[in-house]
Amino acid sequence: MTAPQAGETGTPERKPVILSGIQPSGDLMIGHYTGALRNWKKLQESHECFFALVNLHAITVYQKPAELRRRSLELLALYMACGIDPERSTLFVQSHVPQHAELGWILNCITPIGQLQRMTQFKDKSRRNEKNINAGLLNYPVLMAADILLYQADCVPVGDDQKQHLELTRDLAIRFNSMYSETFKVPEPYIAPREEGARIMSLQDPTAKMSKSDPDRNASLMLLDPPDVIRAKLRRAVTDSGSSIAYDPDERPGISNLMTLYRIVTGIGFEEQEERYSGQGYGPYKKDLGEAIVAFLEPVQERFKEIIGDRKALEEILDAGAAKARDRARRTLDKVHRKIGLLGGRRY
Ligand code: TRP
Repeated sequence: MTAPQAGETGTPERKPVILSGIQPSGDLMIGHYTGALRNWKKLQESHECFFALVNLHAITVYQKPAELRRRSLELLALYMACGIDPERSTLFVQSHVPQHAELGWILNCITPIGQLQRMTQFKDKSRRNEKNINAGLLNYPVLMAADILLYQADCVPVGDDQKQHLELTRDLAIRFNSMYSETFKVPEPYIAPREEGARIMSLQDPTAKMSKSDPDRNASLMLLDPPDVIRAKLRRAVTDSGSSIAYDPDERPGISNLMTLYRIVTGIGFEEQEERYSGQGYGPYKKDLGEAIVAFLEPVQERFKEIIGDRKALEEILDAGAAKARDRARRTLDKVHRKIGLLGGRRY
């Protein structure tokens, strides 16, 4: 099922609502742009969009305070550099809207622990952070459900790794609605078009997903990597034995991953790449790909530099975003309070 498009529902003034968020916990990779932000930019035209900086999720893993602060502003500037327009979409920081944590608590009270313990991401993260398996890590997906349900989101653009969390969100909405009567919209995942959903693998191990927390800095391409860094990372990218440019993800994952990147940044398909580079080795191919990525990221990087310089403007955008988000979130939370019998409703 897909969410209704504006105009199809008979009430054209109500656009379907989108909510999504990114954690300000590390540098963004090229895939955040091609897989998420570029798509969010388009969605602004047809949807009412709420884009959060989910700093309460970020602290489930220890963050140095000064870095968390800096990264939060940088993430906002990146949203905008990627074309998200604060006049059209609501850009806000999760902790500026206390209703997230409040609804999170309430939803915790209808969430079976077993379901949280079975979450793939919880299991992965507990393996990786053995010394800090805190309750926040377990309850992380419940807070995410609160993020989504507070805005009565119709659809949620998420990557593969978040589908299970969205499934939990739907379960919680359905459970709450059946326990207390219709309250929450049950959200649908928004599945990105194939190109945007393409998986980008590590440049050093093309059988593993590219990850922002990879200790090998040559493995991942960051959105803000300077041109020379991008060129160097491509020169060092792992390729397969043989030397022809041919797409074959099972037998030749290295070159196939580079070809995917090439297609993402230039729009040129695999066959045409194969033709263009027939008889040429990896060297010239990687060099061209490096230049293509540099050119692709340049406009975003330029805009980022301009935007990040005006801290006051960024703070004003966050203030305005928080006010809009709180307004919407409060409406949902008041309803929830009334339904479950918390005394007083709106007055508190
Ligand atoms: N868990 C998401 C991630 O790591 C981030 C997130 C938090 C989110 N709340 C959300 C994404 C709500 C979509 C909607 O990618």
